[in-house]
Amino acid sequence: MSAPNSLFIRAAQAQPTERTPVWFMRQAGRYMPEYRAVRKQYSLIEICKKPEVAAQVTIEAAEILKVDAAIIFADLLLPLEVMGLPFHFAAGEGPGGSGPKIEKPLRTAEDVARLRTDRAADLGYVSEAVKLVCKHFGDKLPVIGFCGAPFTLASYMIEGGGSRNYLFTKRMMYSAPAAWNELMEKLVAVTAEYSAEQVRAGADAIQVFDSWVGCLSVEDYRRYVLPHATDLVKRVQETGAPIIYFGTDSATLLPSMQETGAEVISLDWRIPLDTGWQSLGFKGAVQGNLDPVLLFADWKELKSRAQDILRRAGGRPGHIFNLGHGILPETPVENVKVKALGDFIREHSAEFKKERKTELKTELRT
Ligand code: CP3
Repeated sequence: MSAPNSLFIRAAQAQPTERTPVWFMRQAGRYMPEYRAVRKQYSLIEICKKPEVAAQVTIEAAEILKVDAAIIFADLLLPLEVMGLPFHFAAGEGPGGSGPKIEKPLRTAEDVARLRTDRAADLGYVSEAVKLVCKHFGDKLPVIGFCGAPFTLASYMIEGGGSRNYLFTKRMMYSAPAAWNELMEKLVAVTAEYSAEQVRAGADAIQVFDSWVGCLSVEDYRRYVLPHATDLVKRVQETGAPIIYFGTDSATLLPSMQETGAEVISLDWRIPLDTGWQSLGFKGAVQGNLDPVLLFADWKELKSRAQDILRRAGGRPGHIFNLGHGILPETPVENVKVKALGDFIREHSAEFKKERKTELKTELRT
């Protein structure tokens, strides 16, 4: 860990901070002209595999936006390759459209048995990039490492790409529980080692992306996923880094997700921040939760909705401002708006916290 006393890490540990830390999921991405310029030269996977380039992209985005944390530039699916499932990113048109494509999706118990767990070290290029970013920022800015959660990674492996109904994934979960368990265990083994390596390289926190977990009922989440997600969280926590557990469509799952022991639960925009935090007993920290599409609204609306989130956080210790999901590639080209939102949160949250303190003092006096 390189910036343990930073605003972001203190908030992740639900300690009081003078203002609300802010960062954005997908802060380095296609909406940003500086990133698009790098992408003209290299493919996404090439950027990930060249530590100097991945570090440059990570650093540039964090500095342009003046955010309170830098998230390492990598991709969720990188571990698939070292487990023996090659994939590529399909461009645009045609059947299936754009997005990740797994060449031979997992469908049977034999496919699961063939997956390798002994090559996590081959992802060392990510921790090399983490080292370079940490060296650049020193103790000035914390660095977030990340990995996919076992359910979300399994869904890509089994469906072969993005999915609407998670038919093949749920079919394996319901009808081949032994293969499902073996798959979850193998994914946890690889992602725990991969994340721990990022922390040893200097990452201050690990975000676990369970982007598609919201397709499950609470009962199924608890039966088929929670034990494995908990195992992952516990193993990574042994490194000392706090964990942010992220999901979308997860309003009904929040209390169960909290049972993993993750320090921070990330909320999407479908639930008001205070309602979500209340469902967690206001224990621990929360991250979120502006709808990324509000970055397409006019500044007045955007500002008022951001302000509403701060009001709902109510100055309680342990709020990290973020979007409810990543910045969309179509987000208006000038990153000015994203940057302006970050500036606004920094300034307004400090004022808000001061006001709340004065209010609390007055309440105590009267
Ligand atoms: O937040 C950041 O700035 C860090 C970088 C980051 C990327 N992917 C780079 C990337 C992170 C955190 C991810 C995680 C990721 N990757 C997730 C989980 C996050 C989420 O949104 O829920 C998932 C599901 C993936 C898999 C993946 N990678 C998808 C579905 C896509 C989109 C494919 C497409 O064609 O739109 C990607 C590509 C990707 N990963 C991009 C970036 C910046 C954009 C593609 C590009 O540059 O060509």
